[in-house]
Amino acid sequence: MKILKHLFDNNREWAEQIKAEDPTFFEKLSLQQAPEYLWIGCSDSRVPANQLTGLLPGDVFVHRNVANLVVHTDFNCLSVVQYAVEALKVKHIIVCGHYGCGGVLAAMQNKELGLIDNWLRNIKDIYYKHQEALEAIEDQQVREDYMCELNVVEQVANLCHTTIVQNAWKRGQPLSVHGWVYGIKDGKLHDLDVCVTGVEQIPDVYRIFRQRILGK
Ligand code: CO
Repeated sequence: MKILKHLFDNNREWAEQIKAEDPTFFEKLSLQQAPEYLWIGCSDSRVPANQLTGLLPGDVFVHRNVANLVVHTDFNCLSVVQYAVEALKVKHIIVCGHYGCGGVLAAMQNKELGLIDNWLRNIKDIYYKHQEALEAIEDQQVREDYMCELNVVEQVANLCHTTIVQNAWKRGQPLSVHGWVYGIKDGKLHDLDVCVTGVEQIPDVYRIFRQRILGK
């Protein structure tokens, strides 16, 4: 007897349903993928990129990890970004965090959790950077929500500081980096309005090439 049979049953039904709507759907997709979006999200089971944006297979390239981090030494994430930008030529990179993120909340505590503490350290750095503003918020829930948002904003910045994103801009390739937060309680996406579309929008020290700006 097949293990996890119900998942194979679901899959058969799903594939048949899609084929019924578009008989050549899988055949077309097997020839190429041309997604416009790269999604960098949390591994949390409640935040599935395709479902909550109504996108089909082939529409979005996805990387997920605990607390949707973009770490400069993480070759897994960076390889995904490079392939998405240089080979697939996605037009948008979306960092999508979510309220109530277990990774973010764990980083706000003083508890030893094992190996993952080394990963969460990246989030503690963000807390430390914004400690004053965070601790000025009395309501715990509001403070946690704000920390989830700050985490996304920092990851957007980290993406913009990569050679991959900056070289795309240098080539004149259209590429926007967005920061969103998803509400697990209501299923709604929120735009944090931190979209970056060019190197002139990031601090000078992080730029890997000089722009020809008058006076510089
Ligand atoms: Co999470």
